[in-house]
Amino acid sequence: MDFFDELCQLAAASPRQRWVGADHPAWKAFLADAPCPAPDSTSGGAETLDELQCQAKNCKLCKLCELRQNVVFGEGDPHAKLMFIGEGPGAEEDASGRPFVGRAGQLLDKMISAMQFSRKEVYIANVVKCRPPNNRAPMPEEAEACAGYLKKQIELISPQVIVLLGASAAKYLLDRHEGITRLRGNFLDYRGIPVMPTYHPAFLLRQESAKREAWSDLQKVMAKFGKVYSKK
Ligand code: URA
Repeated sequence: MDFFDELCQLAAASPRQRWVGADHPAWKAFLADAPCPAPDSTSGGAETLDELQCQAKNCKLCKLCELRQNVVFGEGDPHAKLMFIGEGPGAEEDASGRPFVGRAGQLLDKMISAMQFSRKEVYIANVVKCRPPNNRAPMPEEAEACAGYLKKQIELISPQVIVLLGASAAKYLLDRHEGITRLRGNFLDYRGIPVMPTYHPAFLLRQESAKREAWSDLQKVMAKFGKVYSKK
C-alpha cells in the first residue's frame, strides 16, 4: 500500500479528519522513502537548499541520527542577507524539526526584531542538525560530520553577515577555541563574510546582565546594513 492509499483509507475511516498532520506515521514513512540521494559526504553535490535538506534528512554520518525525531536543517529566506548559526537542536526543535523554537528561540526572535529584521527575512541554522542527547554541546566528530551541510548552506545562501550564537558555533565554523566572552563583539571572517560572535540566547536567559553586551554586538551587525537603533 502506498502513501496515497493510506491517506484514502484514513480519510474513509474518519471522514471528519481528512487532513494528515506532518507527524502522522504515514507522512513520515512517505518522507523517509523520498528518493533523495543518500550523501556519502556532506559536501554533497546539492545545488539548492531543498536538495541539501533532502540529503540531510537521510543522513547517517554520525550517531546523533539514532536518537533524532527530526533533522533540524534550518529555515528562513534562502537569499537572506543575515544568517544566524546556533549550536544544535534542543528537545522542542527535535520534536518540531524547526530551529530555535523553544525559550531560547523566543529570545532570538526578539533579538532579530530588535535588529529591525523579521525571522522570515533571515536564515537560522545550527552547527549540528540532529539533537545531541541531554542538550550537551556537539562532539567534535559530530560537528565534523555535519560541517559540510553548514558550509554548503552558507555557500548557497551567501549572506552578507553571519551572527554566531555561542562558543560552539565559533569553534566549529571558525576553528576558534577561545571562550565566547573573549571572542564576542569583534567581526571575524569566514571566507570573506563578516562574522559576529555573540552570546547564545540560552546563555542570555540565564545571565540577564549579558544582554547589554549582546545588544552592542548586534548593533554592530545592524550598522553593516545601515540600520541604527533609536528610541522613539
Ligand atoms: N539552541 C541552539 O543552539 N539551536 C537551536 O535550534 C535551539 C537551541
